[in-house]
Amino acid sequence: MQVDVLLGLQWGDEGKGKIVDVLCPKYDLIARFQGGPNAGHTLEFDNKKFVLNTIPSGIFNPDTLNLIGNGVVIDPIILKRELDNLKANGFDPVGTGKLVIARKAHLILPTHQLLDAASESNMGAGKIGSTLKGIGPTYMDKTGRNGLRVGDTTLPDFTERYQKLKEKHLSILSHYGEIPDFSEKEEAFLAAIEFLKSIPHVDSEHLVNQYLKEGKKVLAEGAQGTLLDIDFGSYPFVTSSNTTTAGACTGMGIAPNKIGTVFGIFKAYCTRVGSGPFPTELDNEVGENLRQLGHEFGATTGRARRTGWIDIPALKYAIMLNGVTELVMMKADVLDTFEKIYACTHYKYDGQVIDYMPYDINSIKPEPILEEIAGWNQDLTGITKEEEIPAALRNYISYLEKALETPITFLSVGPDRKQTLALTK
Ligand code: GDP
Ligand code: IMO
Ligand code: MG
Repeated sequence: MQVDVLLGLQWGDEGKGKIVDVLCPKYDLIARFQGGPNAGHTLEFDNKKFVLNTIPSGIFNPDTLNLIGNGVVIDPIILKRELDNLKANGFDPVGTGKLVIARKAHLILPTHQLLDAASESNMGAGKIGSTLKGIGPTYMDKTGRNGLRVGDTTLPDFTERYQKLKEKHLSILSHYGEIPDFSEKEEAFLAAIEFLKSIPHVDSEHLVNQYLKEGKKVLAEGAQGTLLDIDFGSYPFVTSSNTTTAGACTGMGIAPNKIGTVFGIFKAYCTRVGSGPFPTELDNEVGENLRQLGHEFGATTGRARRTGWIDIPALKYAIMLNGVTELVMMKADVLDTFEKIYACTHYKYDGQVIDYMPYDINSIKPEPILEEIAGWNQDLTGITKEEEIPAALRNYISYLEKALETPITFLSVGPDRKQTLALTK
């Protein structure tokens, strides 16, 4: 058995949560492997809407186990809030034993968030546009070998370890200026740590490999998107983890030869939230139209997402990095009223026409070369069968499959679980 992976090919918010929820009945285990509550994964079904930040999107299927892997960074306060909200809506994954957490996952402290905020405000106009959830500082402590892990919460000297790390943070924070009062947050954090102990702690590497040995099916759920990857994204305007398939290996403890199907998910257009380059951005009325039609406002922060046309060189890059075997196209319905849509096929860059992402897209801006494609001018949101897909949309699908040399096997035409079509190939 192998681990399938589903991850974003753009700058996040492609619709990963929705598709994991659609696919999860086929899987025994769903695992998050990187990122933290900077993620906001939205699921809609039975007229209900949920946004998950830390919890894997398999949580609504009663037969699937959900793992928060070692590569994830956990804010116990947010995790508790997520679980309380689920419980209030009749879902109790802790009570039913459907949620486990890796001992080796790192903890986000209240002072990590203060550091995130201080660092961002110090950068002024050059800021990353972080979600301010403390992600960067927590991964810095992880790689700096200072971090606190979930497993540490049950050690007798946890309080001392916490105080030691907090003192280090306070010393750094004092260089930025006055330190805001965080006593309430600290109280909530320590209470949430107690709560965290009630969720089973596991060694994700043993759990996942045991599952594979027993012939069980595992799906790894990415957070953020490939263009936010710490190594290959639009650095420094990225997040602090490997959002690519390789991250699934280190973030759960599986060998590279255990990777099976890789689902690469993308919107029929493109969005980005936060700062950084975005070659196909439409900073105009068309972009505003896309934002309104696509409800492009962040699931975690509520910030308006920047919008633009689909970027084929960027998608090709993402497909290569991740070893994508199947594509999932989301939010096609958002383009329903467009007479014409556009795809970026190449960039004009530094006097040349290129079809790949160059090293520096921050100081030299690539100018997109766009190809016009006929729109379908039809409401897609009610279609349930492949035969109902309008000819112009079929053309767009074939056009992308050819350009990306990868089949599109799912098409999403609305936010609800039911608004998903499997495409025969
Ligand atoms: P994720 O972070 O990749 O899970 O994506 P988000 O949940 O942040 O953003 C995707 C948004 O698009 C959510 O509000 C979804 O409910 C919504 N969505 C997902 N698929 C579709 C679709 O096919 N059509 C439309 N109109 N909305 C969709
Ligand atoms: P999901 O999983 C979209 C962006 C932030 C910022 C940059 C760094 O819902 O797709 P960070 O908080 O990680 O320090 O922010 O990354 N970002 C996301 N954008 N979707 C996400 O997650 C994101 N998580 C982080 O906006 O530009
Ligand atoms: Mg999101």
